[in-house]
Amino acid sequence: MAHVSTPSVRGDDTAEQRKARGAFFTPSALCDYVVDWAIRSADDLVLEPSCGEAAFLVSAAQRLARLQAASASPAAGELHGVELHEDSATHALGVLRAAGHDARVRVDDFFTVEPHPVYDAVVGNPPYVRYQGFSGDNRTRARAAAMRAGVSLTGLASSWAAFVVHSALFLRPGGRLGLVLPAELLTVNYAAEVRRFLMERFRVVRLVLFTERVFPGVLEEVVLLLADGFDEGPTDHCELYQARNVADLPQAVGRLWRPVAPESKWTASLLSTDALATVERLTEHGQFGALLEWGETTLGMVTGNNRYFTMSPADAERHGIGEAELLRISPPGSRHLRKLTFSRAAWQRLGAADSGTYLFRPPGAPTPEAKQYIASGEAVDVHHAYKCRVRNPWWRVPLVPPADLFLTYMNADTPRLSTNRARVHHLNSVHGVYLRPELRTAGMDLLPIGSLNSMTLLSAETVGRAYGGGMLKIEPKEADLLPVPSSELLLSARSELMRAKPHLSRALANGRVTDAAEIVDEVLLVRRLGLKATEVAALREAHAELNARRVARGADPRRVR
Ligand SMILES: C[S@@+](CC[C@H](N)C(=O)[O-])C[C@H]1O[C@@H](n2cnc3c(N)ncnc32)[C@H](O)[C@@H]1O
Repeated sequence: MAHVSTPSVRGDDTAEQRKARGAFFTPSALCDYVVDWAIRSADDLVLEPSCGEAAFLVSAAQRLARLQAASASPAAGELHGVELHEDSATHALGVLRAAGHDARVRVDDFFTVEPHPVYDAVVGNPPYVRYQGFSGDNRTRARAAAMRAGVSLTGLASSWAAFVVHSALFLRPGGRLGLVLPAELLTVNYAAEVRRFLMERFRVVRLVLFTERVFPGVLEEVVLLLADGFDEGPTDHCELYQARNVADLPQAVGRLWRPVAPESKWTASLLSTDALATVERLTEHGQFGALLEWGETTLGMVTGNNRYFTMSPADAERHGIGEAELLRISPPGSRHLRKLTFSRAAWQRLGAADSGTYLFRPPGAPTPEAKQYIASGEAVDVHHAYKCRVRNPWWRVPLVPPADLFLTYMNADTPRLSTNRARVHHLNSVHGVYLRPELRTAGMDLLPIGSLNSMTLLSAETVGRAYGGGMLKIEPKEADLLPVPSSELLLSARSELMRAKPHLSRALANGRVTDAAEIVDEVLLVRRLGLKATEVAALREAHAELNARRVARGADPRRVR
């Protein structure tokens, strides 16, 4: 008999309350797909850890009934559900009973349920409650539950992350986990430990990705996680299935995909099969390699107070500070670096327009004018700013040598490389790339041009991270991994690239990065590497898709990553 145990949450159910506990229910076709994969025998013991109004339990009951009808011996399969919200649980049982099915539903916080590793299958669609709404005891219990499996989740984790881990602990060895999860499983940093857990503990990790949204009216993009063989891991690859929508699921075909490391971002798994094949082809044969092969990317100088430490030529003159106590810098910000080259003339123009093209930095004992400027800083407490306080003397900003290339790291479109022909220093508003001595000339001449291709643009979306407002941020360690053309490839196309430079500069000046990429694609990918038009198109489409996905997420104020 279906029954409810231990009531906990009561009362009216408003839209706000539903949102707070992440209650939206799964379309039956999606449940059927997961359940048909997860439940394989009429004897299976099945758990739904957040069963809502029984979408999965009904589907599972039907699956068990079909398997039982086909089996000769009496079957012992059982369905168990857990649900926080009592009214939902009661409703769930009503639905199950009305359809003549049997299940046990416990009303409880799933994280308080002691895991016993007895289930053949755990299926469901856990709540996706963002950390802002997922606080206090609920979150503490969830994190403690994940910790039991050795998975340490940060305070930024949404509720689904702990659900994945805690759900797995209910599986018998060899058991299967079939969950509907937000697509951020693939990308967000806080899910790194969940990704690692899945690949370490399961024999097979299958992901089903959708190109269209599958939950009508719900913004969240989802993936299906179908993980088989609990405690029979590790595995070093995922099986990727791509479908347009739920109706398309039976046609989805699988392929293998190996993440760089289990915990690394799985964004590349979002690429179409064609785009992924082209990316792999370009990297496997060394035509594209990591930016690190050209040189190292590092953070710029940290002043502690840019307003105080940077000066325009007019400011310097007003304070009587001469060149000997100033350092030439690329002024704060990166807008002026969205070109192929940062020239001495461009630097001078910025200074004439009153930008902070100098850094106040007396190399030795300050002159009387510099002393006066230091005193004026102390009068307004500049020396108490954290970065100033921890250095001695507080006004001597630690030097970072002039870089060969600048890399913009906060981008609406794509990270840009710009050659530092002005040979100026830079602050931490851009990264510096220091080329290997033997590659310096080629890199300074060709890398900013050559990196404007669809393969690099696309890869930037997978190595970088989406930031507030849909910006693409790239940290130095991520930049190290960015695939760019090899030196052999760029040198072989040198004259064509140089000829293309004025066209590229014009496209960039008009903000048309993808037009610039078309020119470079033609030179590098088509003429040099012989890629077919369809292969280049696959890269461009994948780039446009990831770009649009990032921007759409940035537009959703609920998302924090
Ligand atoms: C996204 S809904 C999905 C419901 C059902 N699995 C489905 O697919 O239709 C998530 C459910 O989790 C429940 N829930 C939220 N926090 C929970 C918790 N800590 N323990 C158990 N259930 C919880 C919500 O009440 C809601 O019914």
